[in-house]
Amino acid sequence: MAFFVAGIALALSACGDGAGSSDTPSAASATTEEATTTVADAPSDSTGFAVDVLPIIENTCARCHTGKGPGTPHLRLDTVADAIENSNLIVEAVGLGAMPPWPASNLSVAFKDDWSLTDAERDALIAWARRPLTDLDPATPIVSTSGIQTLTDVDYEIVPLDGYDGTQDQPDEYRCLIYDLPFEDTTWIKGYEFVPDQTEVVHHAIGYRIGGEHRAAAGALAAKDPGNGGWTCFGSSGLPEQRVLGWVPGIGPREYPEGSGLRMSADDFIVIQVHYHYEVEAPTDFSSLRLDIAGTDELPLDSVDSVRFVAPAEIPCASWEQGPLCDRSAALAAAEAKYGEAGTQANLINTICQASPEDYAHMTDGTASASCDLPVRERGQIVSVLGHEHEIGTSFKMTLLPGTPDELILLDIPDWDFQWQLAYEPVDEIFVEPTDIIRIECSWDRSLRDRDLEPAYVLWADGTHDEMCFATVAIREVAR
Ligand code: HEC
Repeated sequence: MAFFVAGIALALSACGDGAGSSDTPSAASATTEEATTTVADAPSDSTGFAVDVLPIIENTCARCHTGKGPGTPHLRLDTVADAIENSNLIVEAVGLGAMPPWPASNLSVAFKDDWSLTDAERDALIAWARRPLTDLDPATPIVSTSGIQTLTDVDYEIVPLDGYDGTQDQPDEYRCLIYDLPFEDTTWIKGYEFVPDQTEVVHHAIGYRIGGEHRAAAGALAAKDPGNGGWTCFGSSGLPEQRVLGWVPGIGPREYPEGSGLRMSADDFIVIQVHYHYEVEAPTDFSSLRLDIAGTDELPLDSVDSVRFVAPAEIPCASWEQGPLCDRSAALAAAEAKYGEAGTQANLINTICQASPEDYAHMTDGTASASCDLPVRERGQIVSVLGHEHEIGTSFKMTLLPGTPDELILLDIPDWDFQWQLAYEPVDEIFVEPTDIIRIECSWDRSLRDRDLEPAYVLWADGTHDEMCFATVAIREVAR
């Protein structure tokens, strides 16, 4: 009951912000404080937990923080007692917006499998966690209402050619591993599941489809680092690639819409970039890829293709920074020396977007932003949308038909989080035509750069400390 009081106070707070007057928001938040106190002091609060708060935890957090869920090494919420014991951590993580991990804002179109909290749920959870009272037996188990599924129809389980064995000496490693496929003819993948092997160190994964003509080059990259599987890679695999698969902790298998699939030519192979984070030592990792393959009786399927939409990434040194690499051409030359021309796309992207470094030269206050409008070039239905920047990204936005009456924000990420690059699947059917425009917008903040790094102009290249700005949109080739 008392939670309804908190709800009303928060609604007022939202109105106060909207009114834009400078003193209203603080007055409103004082009201919220009072309401919170009322909640905590009210003896009737005990029923509020079971009815108003436990379902929130069971619908979102429990998915990853109970049983064998991927968040359990960090926080266990197996019982009500666990939630009470960790209430401070809950206040912090939820208050900061770090948990649950769903960076897309609700300016975006609606997405399937959305485990984010509404503002009211978030406030109810925080209000409870500040004074965690309950009349439930603390031993009451917390049971996920949206367990992580596994792929039901597994035709193949592919393991990497060689596994990767890292150490705590190098806690963060981005490793490209080769997954050869056993197919002799064109094959259609209907669904897949990335199965992390050493779950304590496998952080997230990005998979690329690569043409068979590049298989020897992949082998050569792996051979440069003998004794351990794959090669170090960050911004891209270093081979001509299409980003087609993705995994973050807590997502289950991915299935392409009924009647569609990912086409693999006979010689195509997959490279998966795995982000390893070694807080602990672990045995060699052989994370696998399970595949659900279409039978011949199911063909033909519509092809789902990945289309990349780019914007420039040009982040000049701030006015108070100086050093030889603050010169753009020196930074470009340094990136080319490290990653080759294929791995240093800054000038190419500028050309595509009809931009030039001068457009960004005034951005010397430590932040920068860029945008680019490009035609879709394909006809079909949007299956998923994903944004990509590196570690100093602060926001990402992708808009279909910007500035027209049919404008649609496909993805808005107001607080970019490199660790949680989800491919979001729109609930509604969204169709695109080749001439439709998609606008990509990114922003960056240089204060997020590693402090040990030499000051440098940051531009579009493959390194961890370089930047990128692009969207990958999976489009099903089908007419409206
Ligand atoms: C999709 C999976 C997922 C969901 C849903 C999720 N978490 Fe997490 N959580 C994680 C992972 C993984 C970590 C480890 C840190 C990281 O990767 O960000 C984590 C870390 C945390 C931490 C930090 C623990 C520490 O070590 O300080 C807290 C607190 C937390 N989660 C609370 C919650 C709460 C509360 C909810 C629900 C509102 C929630 N999480 C929902 C996956 C999830």
